[in-house]
Order: sequence, then C-alpha cells, then structure tokens
Amino acid sequence: MKKEILESYKGVRDFYPQDQFVLDYIRRVMSETCELFGFEHYGASVLESADLYRNKTSDEIVNEQTYIFEDRGGREVVLRPEMTPTVARMVAKKRRELGFPLRLYSIPNVFRYERPQKGRLREHWQLNADIFGAEGMDYEIELVALVREIFFAFGAKEEDFLIKINSRSVLDKIFNELEVPPLAAKSTLALLDRKAKISEEDFDEHLTRILANEKDAFLAALKHAEAEGELKNYLDEFKLRGINNVVVDSSVVRGFDYYTGFIFEVFDTDKANPRALCGGGRYDNLMKSLGQEPVPTLGFGMGDVTIRDFMDLRGLLPEYEPASKLMIMVLQDDPELKRAAFDLSERFRRANIETAVNYSARKFDKQIKTADKLSIPYVVALEDKCDLDKDEFTLIKLSDKTKHKLSFDSAVFFVTDSD
Ligand code: HAM
Repeated sequence: MKKEILESYKGVRDFYPQDQFVLDYIRRVMSETCELFGFEHYGASVLESADLYRNKTSDEIVNEQTYIFEDRGGREVVLRPEMTPTVARMVAKKRRELGFPLRLYSIPNVFRYERPQKGRLREHWQLNADIFGAEGMDYEIELVALVREIFFAFGAKEEDFLIKINSRSVLDKIFNELEVPPLAAKSTLALLDRKAKISEEDFDEHLTRILANEKDAFLAALKHAEAEGELKNYLDEFKLRGINNVVVDSSVVRGFDYYTGFIFEVFDTDKANPRALCGGGRYDNLMKSLGQEPVPTLGFGMGDVTIRDFMDLRGLLPEYEPASKLMIMVLQDDPELKRAAFDLSERFRRANIETAVNYSARKFDKQIKTADKLSIPYVVALEDKCDLDKDEFTLIKLSDKTKHKLSFDSAVFFVTDSD
C-alpha cells in the first residue's frame, strides 16, 4: 500500500483523541457561553443546493473557494462554505412560526477550497451566533459582548484581543457622496480588505488606479467617519457598557456582499497569530435576496483553528483527560477470569467510573505500558478469580506505580477521591 493513502486529504485534519479533546472543549465553551446569552442550538446538513449562494454572498467564496459537484440526479450541490445562507433559509422557511428576536447558534464544519496555511484550512469548525429580528445598536453591542465572554471563558484577558469595528453603511454613504460607481466601490472594499497584507505604497497606488481624482476625498471622508459620527457613537456606547478593547478600523470591510451596516472582526494582539479570530456584522437584506421580506439580522462566525492557536500561544489549552479512568487488566487467558473481569467492570461503571477492560492476557508489564500510552490513571490487575471472591484486589496508581490492596468499595472511593 502506498504511504500517501494514510494521509488525510489536503487541508483537512484527523482528530486523534488528544485533538478531539481540544475541539470538544472549544465547542463546549462556545455552546455554554451562547446558551448563557439565551441562544438556541440548531443544526443542518453540510450539503446545500448551489443556488443558495449564487449572487448572494461573495463572488470569491462562491466561484473560487466552494466545493461544488453534480449529484447523481444532475443537481448542483455544495459542501457549505459558511452557515449564514443556511440559517437565513431555515428562518425564512418557518418565519411565521418563529418568535423574534430569535437567537440561534450552531457549530458546523464548513469547507473552503483555500491554500492551506497557518490559520487557514479547507475544513474548519465555526461557531455561528445570529439574531434575527433585531434592530439597532443594542443588539450589535450585545453580540460583541457574547464574543468577549467567549474569550474570557477560554481564559483570555481583555488585552489579549482587539475588537475592530466599522460600518458598511458608512462606507456606502461615502461612495454615494463621491459618486463612486458600484464596480469601483467593490474594488475599493476588496483593496481595504487587503490593506494589512500589502505595503502602504502599493495600497496608495491601487487606490489611485481605482478612484483617480476622488482618492484624497475618499481618504479624508474615511478619516472623518472614524473620528466622529456613527462610528464614534458606537465607540462611546461600547465604553459606557464597559467594553474597552474596541477600536474603529476602516480596513475592516468583511468579504461578504450581504453585510449592510455594523461590521466587526476580532484579532489576537500577539502578531504571531495574525488571522482574524472572528468576524461578523449586520446583514438586513439576505432574506430579501432569498425572495423574502427583509428582516433586521446580525451575527458572527468564530473558527476553531485560529482560536486554538490563540489559546496555544498563551498556554490556555486544556490538559488531556482520557475517557477511561480505570483499566482492568486480565492477566490469564482464562474464560472464568474474563467473566469475572466483565462483572467487575460492570460494577465500576455502575459506580460511575469510566472503565475499560484489557482482555488480551498479555504480560503485566506490557499491559501497564499500554495503560501509560493511553494515559489511563488507574489499573486493576486480575490474576486470579479468588481475589474477587475475597473482595480484595490490587489497584495500581500509574503516576507513581504504587500498589494498593483494596476492597471494591474502597477502590471506588480511592479512584473517585483523586478527582
Ligand atoms: P468569515 O469571516 O468568513 O465569516 O469566517 C468567520 C471566522 O471563521 C474567521 O474569522 C476565522 O476565524 C474562521 N475561518 C474562516 N475561514 C477559515 C479557514 N479557511 N480556515 C480556518 N478558519 C477559518 C463568515 O463565514 C460569516 N458567514 C460569519 C457570519 C455569521 N456573519 C454573520 N453571521
């Protein structure tokens, strides 16, 4: 067999138990915090019809980054590249039955055909928290408060991350006032999006090419918008509500066409983790592009990849805990002993101790090595069924290899008490 067959597909990850443990932890913290803010959990399939995305989200994502294929019935299908169109579709479909404002969250895996690099993969898990039927700044600030709380729940401090805000409507107003044609406006947004990745000279040169004589007026209007008006109001209101790690940044534009107003992205203050940790904003017109009445809506996405890097940088990753607390080692190939081990394992499980049995009958040392490899903290060595009849057996604590002769009840106490 070729060696490559053992490799996972390019840009996706295998999750061995240690990695799955971290992903589960990330998902659990995200879920618990969303629920603390009153968000309801929902789910959907990874498969969606391609029409759901065309001309509604982002040309780059749809045309260059979406996994798209024809199914056996000739329909065009995608592996979802994001969750927003899916949740909008679901809400649109049951609109009359649902109560608004509606707070929804999900942590789906999403797929993008990107060049795999640090912080960017072809499959990631992304928390999506959205509020449908929510008008005004109060919801926007609360959404950011949720993001902040998630960071705190991971053990981060305020100075570890920076929330950058901007507004699509402010940008649109500037384009309108300067009569910038739609295509040039789109190119300007794309250029602003790349601002941090290119040199100042390159930015200036491209902007001149796009906006010609309006360039200086555009830059002046941007500066003005940052210093006063709508964005200044946001900043003041954030501060009044005790959220201080927020700045206005006109290079935050978000890559999707559906945003209509307030937008934001969150960054690690450590430059070693340069990719956005989270991004979102208001998208009041996505429902309209699905042929529905518009609904004021806002939300964000937060990916597991950059969050994991964020935690890793600060030593915030949880220490692995194996599922099994106890391994019963059967030391002889004896059916009666195996039956006794089975019974004993059932008793431990009923006492709520996660118990695995090693029926291999391999040598004591070999089985101890296995337990060590699996990071299982306790083992019981069963050599002879008589021990059990006497209600006495040997429990070994693997961290210091100490042996304890114990009855069943005291073994349960010993193992549980170590938590
Ligand atoms: P997005 O900015 O494309 O937004 O993704 C949100 C977050 O997902 C990013 O900040 C990043 O943490 C993570 N992410 C995105 N692409 C990748 C990738 N290729 N590899 C690893 N992580 C990635 C959206 O998708 C919007 N639909 C979010 C939203 C929800 N807006 C409103 N509601």
